[in-house]
Amino acid sequence: MLKLKLSMLDSLGNLERTHTCGELDVKNVGERVVLMGWVARKRDFGIFTFLDLRDREGITQIVISEDVAPQAHAKAKQVRNEYVVAVKGSVVARSDSAVNPKIPTGRIEVLADEILILNESKTLPFEIEKAGSQNLASEELRLKYRYLDLRRQRLQKNLIMRAQVIRKIREYMDSLGFIEIETPILLKSTPEGARDFLVPSRVYKGKFYALPQSPQILKQICMIAGLDRYYQIARCFRDEDLRADRQPEFTQLDVEMSFANQEMIYRIIEGVFRSVFKLIDVDLPEQFPRLTYKEAIERFGTDKPDLRFGMELQDISDLFKNDGFAPFTSAVASGGQVKAIVVKGRADYSRKRLDELQQLTKRYGAGGLAWIKLADETSSSLMKALGEAKVEEIASKVKAEKGDAVLIVAGKKKVVASSLGALRTEIAETENLIDRNSYKPVLITEFPMFEYNEDTCEYEAAHHPFTAPMDEDVELFYRAVEKGERELLGKIRAKAYDAVINGYECAGGSIRIHQRRLQELNFKAIGLSNETAIERFGFFLEALDYGAPPHGGFAAGIERTCMIICGTENIRDVMAFPKTSSGQDLMIDSPSLVEESQLKELGIRLDTRE
Ligand code: AMO
Repeated sequence: MLKLKLSMLDSLGNLERTHTCGELDVKNVGERVVLMGWVARKRDFGIFTFLDLRDREGITQIVISEDVAPQAHAKAKQVRNEYVVAVKGSVVARSDSAVNPKIPTGRIEVLADEILILNESKTLPFEIEKAGSQNLASEELRLKYRYLDLRRQRLQKNLIMRAQVIRKIREYMDSLGFIEIETPILLKSTPEGARDFLVPSRVYKGKFYALPQSPQILKQICMIAGLDRYYQIARCFRDEDLRADRQPEFTQLDVEMSFANQEMIYRIIEGVFRSVFKLIDVDLPEQFPRLTYKEAIERFGTDKPDLRFGMELQDISDLFKNDGFAPFTSAVASGGQVKAIVVKGRADYSRKRLDELQQLTKRYGAGGLAWIKLADETSSSLMKALGEAKVEEIASKVKAEKGDAVLIVAGKKKVVASSLGALRTEIAETENLIDRNSYKPVLITEFPMFEYNEDTCEYEAAHHPFTAPMDEDVELFYRAVEKGERELLGKIRAKAYDAVINGYECAGGSIRIHQRRLQELNFKAIGLSNETAIERFGFFLEALDYGAPPHGGFAAGIERTCMIICGTENIRDVMAFPKTSSGQDLMIDSPSLVEESQLKELGIRLDTRE
C-alpha cells in the first residue's frame, strides 16, 4: 500500500526552482518559471483551478486551465491544502480587476503547464493562517505542531529578522575589534541568582556539570587571559519562574572588554542597539537618556520604565507628615511614602474599574488604593477622612485638572513603587497612551550593589557577585564588610547598569571587581564562607592573582530585543522552538523519562516518593 502511494508522488528529479513565491512581478511577464512550495489555498472554477502557492518568501497565484494544460489540470484536482508541489509555467499579467494589491506578487499569476505533486498532507489539526491573530488555534496545539505553526508568515518573518539582528550584531562587534569566542555549555554550578540546570557526569558518579546561566566568569577569564575584547552569541540556561518575556533557555549577546569604564561600555551598548534598530528604520539616539536607579524608582516605580508615556509617580508624603488619614500618616512616620499618579481625563472611572485597579495594587502588597475624581463635583474615597479642603490640596499638589482622576497608594517605599508602577503600566495599556511606533531607550545606572532578601535575612548581589562598587561607595563597602556594619550594605551603589527599551530590560552589565581582596570581601558580604567561596570560585580567585586587568561588560537579551523589533509581547514569537510557560517542549515531549539503564550508568536512583 505504502509503495503504491509513494509511486503516485512525483519525483523532483533534477528539476530546479527558478524563483521563490515572493519575487515575481510584472517585470517577469513572459518568463518561463519553476516554483515550489505549499498549497495555501485551492479554488476550483470548473475549467480553471487556482492555487495559492506559498513558500518562505511569499505567495504566488497559479492558474491551471483545462484548455491549455489538460494533464496539469487533472492533476491539480488531486491537490489539497498543504500539499507540496512544483509548478512549471509562464508568468502572465493579471487583468486590472484581478490585481491583488495586498501581496507583492498580486499583479501577476503563473499559468501552469505542468504540476508535480512532491508530497501530500493530511488535513491539518488547525488552519495555518487565519485572519487576525486572535483567531489562531490554542498556543498549546500550535506548539505541539510547531512545524505547522512555523509555516505562518509572521513567525517566519520574525525568525528572518532575528537572523538579521544577529548578523548586524556580529558586524558591529567585529568592526570594533571584538572577537567571538565560544565558551562551554557543560560548565560548573556558579549560581547567578536563578537555579542551575544540572547534568550528571557518568564518569564521575555523583558529580554534576551545570549549564551556564551566562558565560560570566569565563568572559572575565578571557580578559585575564589578555583577549581584550570578547563577544559571543551565547546560549544561557536558567531554571526560574517563566514569564511572558522569559524562557529557561535564551540567547544573549555577551560582551566583555578590558580597560573599560562605564562610559566606554555605554557607548558599545548604544552603538549595538542603534545598529540593530536601523533594521526597522528606527534611529535611536546616539546617547541614550540616563536615569539613576533611584530616580527611576522614584519617578516610575520600576527600574524598567517605559518612557513612551508620562504619568509619573508624584510624592505627596509631605502632606501627611503631621496630620491626615491615619494609614497615610503612619506610613510616612515609619519611613514609608504616600504617592499618586494622575490619570488624565478619567474622572469618570466607575466603582468597578477602581475596584479592579485596587485589586492590582493589592497584588503588589498595597493596603488599598485611594482615589480622587475631579468631575463637575470632586469626589474621593478620602473625602470623609480628610475633608474637601485637603482633598483639593492633594489634587492641586499633583497638578490634576478638572476631568482627571488621582490614584494614591501609601505604605513602604518598595510597595508604593511597585504597586503604582504596575498601575501606571496597566492604565497606559488600557487607556491607549502608548505610541506603538515609538522606541524609547534609557540607561539605568547606579544600581544598588546588594538586595536584602527578607526570606533568608541575607544580603544578595543585586546584579551578580563580580560587580564592582562605585568608587564613591568603596569606603562604605569596606566598613560594611570589614567592620561588620552590615546595614550599610543596602546603601552601596554598584557600577552596574541596564539598558531598557519600551519597558523591557534588554541588557544588563557592570564593571567588575578585578582585585582578589575586594572579590573575597564581596563573597563575604553575600554570606559565602571562605571555604564555600574557595570551593565554588577558587579557580577564579586564583586567576585574579595573576594580573587581572580592569574590565567590564554587558549582556543583551536577543529575544527581548527581537520582541521589540518584531512588535510582539510573546517571547515565543521570536524563537523557533520555545518552551511553554511551564518549561515543556510539547512537540518533542520534553522533559521526558529516560531508560532505567541510562540512570544506572549515571549512578542515579529516582526517589519516586511524593
Ligand atoms: P542578566 O542576568 O541581566 O546579566 O541578563 C542579561 C540580559 O539577558 C536577558 N535575559 C533573559 N531573556 C530571556 N529569558 C530569560 N530568562 C532571561 N534572563 C535574562 C535580559 C537581560 O537584560 N552575566 C550578566 C551580564 C553581565 O554582567 O555582563 C547577565 O547575564 O535581556
